[in-house]
Amino acid sequence: MRKAYVLGVGATKYGKLSLQGRELAAQAALEAIHDAGIDARRIDGAFVANAFGMIEKQGHPGPLLMTSLGIPDKPATAIEAACASGGSAFREAYVNVAGGMSDVMLAVGFERITQVDTVTATGYFSYGSDYFCEGGNGASFPGLYAAIARAHMQRFGTTEEQLAQVAVKNHANAALNPKAHLPKRITLDDVMKSMYVAHPLKLYDACPFSDGASAAIVASEEVARELRKADVLVAGSGRAGSIASLPDRGDITSIPGAQLAGQQAFRQAGLAPKDIDVAEVHDCFTIAEVVATEDLGFFPRGEGAKAAEQGRTARDGDRPVNTSGGLKAKGHPVGATGLGQVVEATQQLRGQSGPRQIPDAEVALTHNVGATGGSCAVHILRRA
Ligand SMILES: CC(C)(COP(=O)(O)OP(=O)(O)OC[C@H]1O[C@@H](n2cnc3c(N)ncnc32)[C@H](O)[C@@H]1OP(=O)(O)O)[C@@H](O)C(=O)NCCC(=O)NCCS
Repeated sequence: MRKAYVLGVGATKYGKLSLQGRELAAQAALEAIHDAGIDARRIDGAFVANAFGMIEKQGHPGPLLMTSLGIPDKPATAIEAACASGGSAFREAYVNVAGGMSDVMLAVGFERITQVDTVTATGYFSYGSDYFCEGGNGASFPGLYAAIARAHMQRFGTTEEQLAQVAVKNHANAALNPKAHLPKRITLDDVMKSMYVAHPLKLYDACPFSDGASAAIVASEEVARELRKADVLVAGSGRAGSIASLPDRGDITSIPGAQLAGQQAFRQAGLAPKDIDVAEVHDCFTIAEVVATEDLGFFPRGEGAKAAEQGRTARDGDRPVNTSGGLKAKGHPVGATGLGQVVEATQQLRGQSGPRQIPDAEVALTHNVGATGGSCAVHILRRA
C-alpha cells in the first residue's frame, strides 16, 4: 500500500436541476480536474457512482463521462451501492492508487431524480431495499428509518424534539452553503409542526430528493507532490456491510456495517474518534445522524440524540457534524452524496469552507450508508 492524496474536488449545486445526469457528472468532474490543476489525459480511469440512472433511461454512464472529458480511451466503471455509491466509488479510486495499479483516478457521483414525482421516486428508491421483504411489501425508506427511530426511542428515551435539533442545525449549516438544496434556516417549532412522513419522522426530519453531482481526484504521492497538491492525505478507508434486510437484524438501533467500516478506517489511520475535527455523516433522516455519531464512537450508545440537543454537533460544538448541511439540507442526490462528503471534508482541511469553516481542522471523516446499512463506507482524510 502506498500513500494516496485527494488532488482535487468539485461539485455542482444540489437541488432541482434542469441538466441531464451526464451533464452534471461532467460539470463536477471538470471542476475537480481544474481544482487539481491536472491535464485530464493524466487520469488513468474513473469510477462513476449512480444509483437510479434508469429514471433517465441511461445506463453505462462511464464512457459518456469520459467522452465528455475528452478521454474516451480511458476506462470508467459504474458503481452502484444505493446511497453509498459515492463513498464506494471513492474507495475504489483510493484502492487503485494505494494498491499501485494507477497513479491518478477520478471518482464521480451523480443523480437526476426530480423529474419524477415523490411517489414515483419513493418507488424507485425502494428497489435499493430488500425488495422481496421490504420495498415490495410497502416499506419505503422513510418507513424503514422510522422503525429505527422508534426502536431508538424505546430503548434510549430519544425524543422527537431531540431529533428535530439535528434538522435545525443542518438547515443552519446549509444556509451558509451556496451549493445546498435547502439553504433555509428553520426553528424547532417548524420541525415539530411539519407533517408526519412516517411516524415519528416528519417533513423536516427527512432529506429531500435532489439532483446533483460531486467528484474527487485521488493521486499517488509522486503526482501530488509534482503538482504541489499533497495537502489532503487519505489516512483511512473502511468499507463493510450489514444484513441487507432490516427485519432480519436483531437490534436496529445501530448499523453494524457502519461500525465496522469506521473501525477499519480508524485502525488504518491510527486515530480515535476523539481525533476527528469535523465529520460529514449520512443523515438521510435525523435519526440516521444520531445513530451515525454513536456507531462512529463520537458518543456512547444511546447518547447521540442528547449530544445533538446539547449543541455538541453544531459548528461551535466539540464534535461538529455535517457542516455542509448534510443530506438533510444540503441535499441527497444519491450517487453524488458520498463524494459530496469528500468535497466538504477536503475543503474543511484546506480552510476553504468560508463561514462554515471549523478553525484549524486537521482531521475529517466521511460516513456514507447505502439503504439501511447494507453498504457502508467510512473515510478519514488528514491535512498533510
Ligand atoms: C419528505 C418528502 C416526503 C417530501 O415530499 P413532498 O411532500 O412531495 O414535497 P414536495 O417535493 O412537494 O415539496 C414541497 C415543499 O417542501 C419542501 N421540501 C421537500 N422535501 C423536503 C425536505 N425533506 N425537507 C425540507 N423541505 C422539503 C420543498 O422544497 C417544497 O418547498 P416549497 O413549497 O417552498 O417549494 C420527500 O422529500 C421524501 O420522501 N424524502 C425522503 C427521500 C428518501 O427517502 N431518500 C432516501 C433516503 S435512504
